[in-house]
Amino acid sequence: MPPETDQKTHIELYPLLSGITAATDLISRILVGHHQKVSFAAATIGQALGLDQHRLSRLILAAAVHDIGGLSIRTRLESFDFEVINPDRHTRPGYFLLAGFAPFADLARIIRFHHTYWRNGEGMVAGGEEVPLLSHIIHLADRIAVRIDPQREILSQKADIIQHIKAGSGDMFVPRQVEAFLQVADKEAFWLDLTSPNLRTLLQQRFPLGAMALGRSEMLELAAMFRRVIDFRSRFTATHSSGVAAVAVAIATHSGFQKEDPDRVRMAGLLHDIGKLVVPTELLEKHQRLTSDDFAIIYKHPYFSAEILRNIKSFADICQWAAAHHERLDGSGYPYRLRGAEIPEGARILAVADTFTALMEDRPYRCGLTVTGTNKIMKDMAAHHKLDQDFVALIHDHSSEINDRRYKAQVGADQTHRHFLAECGLLDNHNETDDRCPRPR
Ligand SMILES: [Fe+2]
Ligand SMILES: [Fe+2]
Ligand SMILES: [Fe+2]
Repeated sequence: MPPETDQKTHIELYPLLSGITAATDLISRILVGHHQKVSFAAATIGQALGLDQHRLSRLILAAAVHDIGGLSIRTRLESFDFEVINPDRHTRPGYFLLAGFAPFADLARIIRFHHTYWRNGEGMVAGGEEVPLLSHIIHLADRIAVRIDPQREILSQKADIIQHIKAGSGDMFVPRQVEAFLQVADKEAFWLDLTSPNLRTLLQQRFPLGAMALGRSEMLELAAMFRRVIDFRSRFTATHSSGVAAVAVAIATHSGFQKEDPDRVRMAGLLHDIGKLVVPTELLEKHQRLTSDDFAIIYKHPYFSAEILRNIKSFADICQWAAAHHERLDGSGYPYRLRGAEIPEGARILAVADTFTALMEDRPYRCGLTVTGTNKIMKDMAAHHKLDQDFVALIHDHSSEINDRRYKAQVGADQTHRHFLAECGLLDNHNETDDRCPRPR
């Protein structure tokens, strides 16, 4: 994307968004496939209600991300109780995460209210705001999905689930929407589709949504929004990708890499850890020594970064770099065990930027290092053929300037994070445990 022309990037949103939430559903066996089930049930009910194409596609996209604000296993699992006690714990973060990207403002509003009861019409309004009817459809679809026991034959459960949903008509659910559900739920095929291992393909074939065209600045905003989804799950990672992006851009600027389009490096930095959505927050915040089972989960993340980014066709290079950001020149990295020249330059830059940023950051089990300490470790890693020697030398030669860029990016990201926590009503628990480590660095 040369700066003088605003070339559009075409993105198919459903595969991208559902790829992201499919990753978040992998944090627990109980959650696997949840977002896809809810998307499919909502789409089928929406269609039976006769929604026009635009509303139907916004419904499917909102359903595809409806629990994106469930930031930990605990919060996600509590939303699986048929009557959710405190849905705000995931609907508010979901709303504020999506609302930051203007083209998703309507999706944010829909998911904000996806646990609102109908209460014979009172549920048209919540907290003084009009509740979109699409929110009520997602509520219904979601409650259908959580009633399914994956251990049992689906057709043996059909009658029981229908009974439960019927019983909720009027109080929990909009009667007209329940009627639409009953029309489709009578067919065995609906239930077989809903539990099909090919559900994602099936949904895309039956409800083709088309692509959205985004300009240069919108692409950066989209990447920044996803960056918040990735990083805001824990205070220990809240500013990480912003720091990596700033350092990676600094290395690219000094080395002349992607001179004509530094935004690609920035986006790669913002998105490199998107596959970390398969790692539960509980693990990101663990104070004890990580076990081999913990590492078995962590080692998956670059693989899933590639899995998700593959859905943006024009991101082939960014996808490759993100996939390989934990590879090491001597072949000791993961998950592809690449070595030497097999590792693309963009991935080497990310690896150096990631290591630099990570060493400077606080972790649950240690405080961040100084620039001198970080440079020493990185030099050692380059000497042992882990990291690219040239890029490590470049950081060493410009360390105060590059660290300054990293620091400013992370301070900015920290402010955004605090603002987000305040909006979600979570700032108090944050402050209790914060600031045990000296700053600024
Ligand atoms: Fe939910
Ligand atoms: Fe849900
Ligand atoms: Fe990573």
